[in-house]
Amino acid sequence: MVKTFGAAPLSHTIAQVNDTVLLVSEDGKRFYTRLQPNHRQHTHQGIIDHNDLIDQPLGRKILSTTGHDYLVLEPSLDELMREVVKRQTQIIYPKEAGRIIFKLNIYPGRRVIEAGTGSGALTLALARLVAPTGKIYSYEARPDLQSNARANLQKVGVLDSVELKLRNIADGFDETEVDSLFLDVKEPWRYLPQAKAALKVGGFFGAIVPTTNQVSELLLALKINEFDGVEVEENFIRGYKAVPGRLRPQDVMVGHTGYLIFARNILLDIQPPARQRKRSWQVSQDAEDDLAAEA
Ligand SMILES: C[S@@+](CC[C@H](N)C(=O)[O-])C[C@H]1O[C@@H](n2cnc3c(N)ncnc32)[C@H](O)[C@@H]1O
Repeated sequence: MVKTFGAAPLSHTIAQVNDTVLLVSEDGKRFYTRLQPNHRQHTHQGIIDHNDLIDQPLGRKILSTTGHDYLVLEPSLDELMREVVKRQTQIIYPKEAGRIIFKLNIYPGRRVIEAGTGSGALTLALARLVAPTGKIYSYEARPDLQSNARANLQKVGVLDSVELKLRNIADGFDETEVDSLFLDVKEPWRYLPQAKAALKVGGFFGAIVPTTNQVSELLLALKINEFDGVEVEENFIRGYKAVPGRLRPQDVMVGHTGYLIFARNILLDIQPPARQRKRSWQVSQDAEDDLAAEA
């Protein structure tokens, strides 16, 4: 059938061991639980036995030990990032993560570096996308934050696709030729030589910063370090109250999270087209032949 929600977001109708499922109570309380044989989820309205969920269909209601309804759902990546990740840092929100995934060309099999790991929210999204054959190399300077991120990634079952590294990225990255690299650190402009050394030529670079003066610093450094195709953007989502007869925007919206900066790692040396290179090689070969004939 299918694998875990964490490792492989494939078509999924039956809950299995290691899946993280979302239980929603009659009064709207939400519980995330990773299914293990003989485990139980305690709630404010009774207990739910994991054995009653494993190998059973999703999207249905079951009864707790006290006779209360619980809806059993496959959680979305959006829900996992916002509600399961225990935050010990500011995190990347799904509205930015979606954009990062598109702009950094993330898909199964890709090799991607990110720093810092922080709470692991972006790591979770990237890991889900590159699984099962790709890898996220995630760098973090603080051991306490790395432990929290590890626990978050373990909770949703994506650790197999992640290598967590404890390092100040000023000391560089271990990997080379990676497809994409994303920086969510305070002063990303300081680490562009290290980023360039790790990225493949043509690779995808991205960063997020909260203030415009940081954007300016980064733009300057991208120019100095010979990145190309630089783009800066900001994303807003305006939610609506989903009431058929009174459809209107939510009263409150998130005004600002950060600016996203994207660029490509390029080689500035201009290479002649392969055909011309061959021709110039032929020309010099001809000259050598002429000299040999004259001798
Ligand atoms: C805003 S948090 C990252 C949040 C993360 N993107 C997420 O979605 O959960 C920034 C992290 O970068 C780490 N950091 C800052 N400078 C660093 C450096 N030079 N090397 C490694 N990690 C660094 C910080 O310790 C912090 O955990």
